Amino acid sequence: MAVKIKTLSGYIHEYQKSIVNPEDFWRQQAEDFYWRKKCDCVLDWNFKEPRIEWFKGGKLNITENIFERQIYTRKDQAAIIWEPNSPDEDSVTLSYSELFNKVKQFSNVLLQNGVEKGDRVAIYMPMIPELAIAMLACARIGAIHSIVFAGFSSNALADRIIDAQAKIVITSDGAYRGAKKIVIKSIVDAAVEKCDSVKTVIVKRRTGEDVNMVDGRDLWWDDLCQGVSLDNEAETMDAEDPLFILYTSGSTDKPKGVVHTTGGYMVFSSYTFRNVFQYNQGDVYFCSADIGWITGHSYIVYGPLLSGATSLMFEGIPTWPDAGRYWDIVEKHKVNQFYTAPTAIRALMAEGNEFVEKKEMPSLKVLGTVGEPINEEAWHWYHDHVGKGRCPIVDTWWQTETGGILISPLAGIIPTKPSYATLPLPGIKPVIVDAEGKELKGNGVEGNLCIKFPWPGMTRTLYGDHKRFYETYFSTFKGLYFTGDGVKRDEDGYYRILGRVDDVINVSGHRMGTAEVENAINEHPLVVESAVVGYPHDIKGQGIYAFAVCNDLDDSADEEGIIKSIKIGVNNIIGPIARPDKILIVSGLPKTRSGKIMRRILRKIASGDYDNFGDTSTLLDPDIVEEIIDKSKL
Ligand code: PRX
Repeated sequence: MAVKIKTLSGYIHEYQKSIVNPEDFWRQQAEDFYWRKKCDCVLDWNFKEPRIEWFKGGKLNITENIFERQIYTRKDQAAIIWEPNSPDEDSVTLSYSELFNKVKQFSNVLLQNGVEKGDRVAIYMPMIPELAIAMLACARIGAIHSIVFAGFSSNALADRIIDAQAKIVITSDGAYRGAKKIVIKSIVDAAVEKCDSVKTVIVKRRTGEDVNMVDGRDLWWDDLCQGVSLDNEAETMDAEDPLFILYTSGSTDKPKGVVHTTGGYMVFSSYTFRNVFQYNQGDVYFCSADIGWITGHSYIVYGPLLSGATSLMFEGIPTWPDAGRYWDIVEKHKVNQFYTAPTAIRALMAEGNEFVEKKEMPSLKVLGTVGEPINEEAWHWYHDHVGKGRCPIVDTWWQTETGGILISPLAGIIPTKPSYATLPLPGIKPVIVDAEGKELKGNGVEGNLCIKFPWPGMTRTLYGDHKRFYETYFSTFKGLYFTGDGVKRDEDGYYRILGRVDDVINVSGHRMGTAEVENAINEHPLVVESAVVGYPHDIKGQGIYAFAVCNDLDDSADEEGIIKSIKIGVNNIIGPIARPDKILIVSGLPKTRSGKIMRRILRKIASGDYDNFGDTSTLLDPDIVEEIIDKSKL
């Protein structure tokens, strides 16, 4: 592996190098890997179309870089340590050679079931090792995996399967989540009913309950693997062949299929993993995310395994059987780097210090956070009580679209500051622009965060909709990739992410489009229209506040009942993560004369701030604001 940055001056030097000659810098990083054919051109790009191609002409397979490239040195080393939901069940360790065999075998299973290079495979599974095996098997045969978080509803799953035209779905019978047992297969059944493209459903047994297996379509994972060869030659992929699609929310109602390609994503996920977490050989690294999100893709599976790391994968939740579950895992497996979300930290902080105080956790060296801004109180609690004051915190800023971390301290190297993601990684050129797109140079400025030069891990397109790709990220500020985040660069040049500036809210570190939730609410037979905004929430960071206008309600209407049924509806249409925390039934929404909802006003009301609504002269009906305020105070 290429040298890791080890000092602050080393960082400054590498950063300079990467900015002066990015192609040379990334070519050097790519030399760590095994390419069946080296690239003809490191970078070809423009942000106008946009077209972004890294390592063009290069041929490789990402799993060959995880396995064949490292197998002689890491054969017996743990690749994945799997910690089950219940502490009473044994954990499972898969060495690099064991994982390799399972991936090769399942690759053969996929091939035998007619999956071909370029086909899309939907994966809807709990956090069990087979989830990682399935995704790596797809990558090995050149199929494009589309993992859907197993908390999404059947409708949301169906939308994603249909958009990607997936041929096959891989799932499990059920899932364990804390004290609950969740049905998975019946959700898949309901989804697949609407999806003509799906020919096969492969089911891994986890909870052992009775499930309905559809003849000619559904097959058991374990039966399929019986007697299947462990020999499998990896497919040759172009550097720019898609590796996976991952759906994420945007400001319109339809989720976007973010596409990541093979070569650049490989180089970037591994480079950022090693440098940010300062992973040393033999360390045990634990990221508590779900593989259904980008953090799990890049920093449970690809980044760590490409770096020869031991990656711990956890099936359960942080608060079951008690709020000490993470700390038990850290002690049991002697975890060295721990990576989680601010929402989990706040939830555990709310449970008091007793669980964490009992644990010394001497193995811990680095703590990480991701997904949403971390408030100072949570940062200090994490630092003092979990890290015992001796572990640097890496507050990593990035997005599904960026493929990997863009702004973050390098652990122990870049001095931290609570709530700051600090400095850009080598190769990353952030710029701050005002509403007109004028670059705000120097320090002590605040505005829209954009990136002005491509990096290898960035998304290349939205699946099947390149026009939308351009419109979403490259049309707001010409020549720049627009992140959708607000940011401040302080007097030291440190970056602090301020949150989304578009109609996206961040609930427990999960991105949620307000339009997506509004559409789900509007499906309710009584709802005429709705508006959804985020508001500050102690644990979730942002909660979902919905204002719903209902048809024909008289004074005797059962508002509580309607609110409950709206919540159930959202649950069914998207999933529990989109369920509004608060719903207010109102007789109208504050709109401008041209019919635009004034969300600014609703955001203030939702956060309990009733003063100074700014310019309200364009309001069509000012009385409505008074009515909403009065009702929200009830
Ligand atoms: O608003 C930023 C926030 O999460 C968004 C990206 O969400 P998603 O694509 O789901 O990916 C989450 C995991 C990478 C960003 O636009 N965000 C992410 N990390 C941070 C953050 N906000 C503040 N600080 C962070 N460290």
